[in-house]
Amino acid sequence: MTLFPDMVADGLNTSIIGRAAAKGLLSIETVNIRDYAFNKHSSVDDYPYGGGAGMLMQAEPVYQAYKAVEDKIGRKPRVVYLSPQGKCFSQSLAKEYAREDELVLLCGHYEGIDERVLEEIVTDYVSIGDYVLTGGELPAMVIVDAVSRLVPGVLHNDISAEFESFQENLLEYPQYSRPEVWHDKKVPEILLSGHHANIEKWRREQSILRTALLRPDLLSKAELTEKEKVLAKSVQV
Ligand code: ADE
Repeated sequence: MTLFPDMVADGLNTSIIGRAAAKGLLSIETVNIRDYAFNKHSSVDDYPYGGGAGMLMQAEPVYQAYKAVEDKIGRKPRVVYLSPQGKCFSQSLAKEYAREDELVLLCGHYEGIDERVLEEIVTDYVSIGDYVLTGGELPAMVIVDAVSRLVPGVLHNDISAEFESFQENLLEYPQYSRPEVWHDKKVPEILLSGHHANIEKWRREQSILRTALLRPDLLSKAELTEKEKVLAKSVQV
């Protein structure tokens, strides 16, 4: 639900997510809140009571747009309002959303939306990080992207969604493709060995080292053996 449906639709109809939608693995629909404007000027915003900068999206168009969605689905869906005041989006929240049959994303613009309609329809307040954007459209696209790639069949093999950053609270190991030598840099020998168990062991170690170095805050949530904890300590300051 947005005042800028083209921005969202154009951004999501390319590449992996666009192909998945074309294949019918998922469906992304935009609802233009302006279509539910209730006055003859089709205005959807007004000045905030009490004064202050900017305009606010009014309650009624948002509510009518939501009602249309609820009628279409036939039950009350989960409604995510994108806001810097929300809880921070994460891979685990993406997984949770991927299990929903329907997910409604509500995008505010200008200075936000009249609080009263938020109280009535919003189930989740979600932020994509501690910075302020001009509207909820980009955050909504971020969420649709992160959730869609977890839908079975969207990635080429379901394995690729398994071994990646934030899986088990570890960052992904480094990867290499041809050529074997590039700018005098050689692909780590072990990856050419064909020895799968050793490769897996090396990759796990690399994940731990990377996480310890780049995101030590994640390590406390990762399940490490005693040996792995020693390895992690070796690079932590
Ligand atoms: N709207 C504006 N800024 C935002 C952010 N950081 N996350 C979610 N929604 C937003």
